Amino acid sequence: MIKLSKFLVFISLTFFGVSKSWAQGTLSDGSKWHWNKGTIVIETPQRPAGQQNALQLAAPKLNVVRVGFVGLGMRGMPAVERWTHIPGVQIVALCDYNKNNAEKCQDFLKKASMPNAAIYYGEKGYVDLCKRNDIDLVYIATDWLHHVPVAKCAMENGKHAAIEVPSAMNMKDIWELINLSERTRKHCMLLENCIYDWYEMNTLNMAQHGVFGEIVHASGAYRHCLSPYWDAYWKKDADDKLGWRLEYNMKHRGDVYATHGLGPVAQVLNIHRGDRMKTLVAMDTKSYTGKALVKERTGKDVDFRNGDFTTTLIRTENGKMIDINHDVMNPQPYSRMYQLVGSKGFANKYPNEGYALTSADLKSFGIKPSRENISNHDYLPEADKKALETKFYHPILKKYGEMAKEVGGHGGMDFVEDSRLVYCLQNGLPLDIDIYDLGEWCCLAELGALSMDNNSAPVEIPDFTRGFWHKQKGYTHAFASPEDEAEAERIAKEFTKGMKSGGEKFLRKYWKAEAQKTKRNKKR
Ligand SMILES: NC(=O)c1ccc[n+]([C@@H]2O[C@H](COP(=O)([O-])OP(=O)(O)OC[C@H]3O[C@@H](n4cnc5c(N)ncnc54)[C@H](O)[C@@H]3O)[C@@H](O)[C@H]2O)c1
Repeated sequence: MIKLSKFLVFISLTFFGVSKSWAQGTLSDGSKWHWNKGTIVIETPQRPAGQQNALQLAAPKLNVVRVGFVGLGMRGMPAVERWTHIPGVQIVALCDYNKNNAEKCQDFLKKASMPNAAIYYGEKGYVDLCKRNDIDLVYIATDWLHHVPVAKCAMENGKHAAIEVPSAMNMKDIWELINLSERTRKHCMLLENCIYDWYEMNTLNMAQHGVFGEIVHASGAYRHCLSPYWDAYWKKDADDKLGWRLEYNMKHRGDVYATHGLGPVAQVLNIHRGDRMKTLVAMDTKSYTGKALVKERTGKDVDFRNGDFTTTLIRTENGKMIDINHDVMNPQPYSRMYQLVGSKGFANKYPNEGYALTSADLKSFGIKPSRENISNHDYLPEADKKALETKFYHPILKKYGEMAKEVGGHGGMDFVEDSRLVYCLQNGLPLDIDIYDLGEWCCLAELGALSMDNNSAPVEIPDFTRGFWHKQKGYTHAFASPEDEAEAERIAKEFTKGMKSGGEKFLRKYWKAEAQKTKRNKKR
């Protein structure tokens, strides 16, 4: 009987031409996809039993954030230096594949009068770092293939994880991190610094105050010719002629670096806070430059998977559109695009920063226009742009902007990011970027490849919150009450002062007293 029904299915698929609607494949996480009316639909893995969503996840306050860094190359080293400027931070451990890199970072600590950190190195050095019981946060700036193993090890050992962009490279990585963060209740933050740049922060504030009306279209990009860097990326050994980044691009299609462009606009569009990314379509060019780079280095003609230029179009549940570009191959001025098109106004960052609004719009926000007849068919005059930016200067920049300009890191945005992360941990608040942002901003890699490998077919994007994307109404940053904030700052500054003057001795005494306090509280 079973044999007969199988035969009938085969006959109907073959002779009635419906085989396409049955075709299906599997993604990196093992979830199946199938066709539905020309769209690729992906099964969303069920939330494991007993596990809650991690929306607005907040962890107990940490008076002092004890951090271990893993991956100390071009990006990781300056991060260590920046963190020496944040009050209430102790740098406990430094880890890199190369011992030298880790040891070099002790100089930053020495310069800041901070005690030496413990050094770990080698392929698995991070495992011992994660097992320490005196670390709260593991900050990961390795090559892309090590992001997830290190983050998993951190969370499994009771630590929060913060991972450089793009934190997860495929659906398997994404779901593993989501499940682990939901299960352990540990933060797993994608370190997207570009959401903290001045233009993006102020424009987000404007959007949240309705300056642009209903935003219907948003663009973002990572267009940055990496030719000066390809040979500077970490190489496994002498046989590695490409370095990790060129090799990854060679092997993978899709927007493998989408978060700088997508992150800032996803916040503006309230993704998984009232709207969600529903469908994507991706298209790329052939690889010309990428292929030539490999030929130069290896003499081989390879099938270079990543197109020189990739575009991903996304439609949201509420009918908005997002356009994300990726090109790290061709010479061009650096651009993250960042453009918002709204029913009342327009914002654009690259190549020319500006806003298009009328004089009447400015007046409605209490701004006196420089002249009466400003039209929204052109950019605002410079004086009006300045007045708009002053009016909507973001509170986070008011707090950290000045110091961030001094400490630096991509003009200061990196330090604003670091400071906000520490602020949220010290005050026990939800972070600015949650685990579902990580899923959404990183999924363009594998889902884009799936679209392109199927003639740029539409792909349904899973709801990474698994049913809660409309629970929160609008994107918000969390803030402590002024009293709690002042108290957290006082404790943080006092700790740093003590650590810088008293060194190891101070730390031993401080943590002994903290352990006793915890013991007493448990007994109560
Ligand atoms: N947010 C940004 O603006 C920005 C800018 C540059 C790079 N990045 C990201 O930062 C990360 C690092 O990039 P980079 O430019 O510093 O690359 P890099 O090649 O200079 O550094 C990678 C480092 O990882 C180390 N490493 C490799 N395997 C390791 C292991 N098992 N344990 C510990 N360390 C290991 C290498 O030794 C190397 O020092 C990447 O994810 C990249 O995308 C982000």
